[in-house]
Amino acid sequence: MVGAWVTVARVTDIPPGHAARVEIDEVPIAIFNVEGELHCIDDTCTHQEASLSEGDLDVERCAIECPLHGSGFDLRTGDAITLPAVEPVRVHRVEVSDGMIRVALRD
Ligand code: FES
Repeated sequence: MVGAWVTVARVTDIPPGHAARVEIDEVPIAIFNVEGELHCIDDTCTHQEASLSEGDLDVERCAIECPLHGSGFDLRTGDAITLPAVEPVRVHRVEVSDGMIRVALRD
């Protein structure tokens, strides 16, 4: 199920190569700008408590590397692509409307 659209930031707040952490209903989520394309996933790593928005963005693989132990997550699918994490993160819907970034959480 998909939740309601929530406006979370201005599109200019997250330039290419950058990320932002926001909370929707107390759920931390991370938004990434990969060469102008926005991606949104859960911010908390599925291995331990780490904020993925603070990780290194891998533009070529469209992935984020967890800052704590280095697991990679595909930003398009949420799949954990390198150990030690094995569980995927959720991928949320994200769009731009009138210069604002909006997100709809998935269950
Ligand atoms: S907390 Fe992310 S890989 Fe360990």
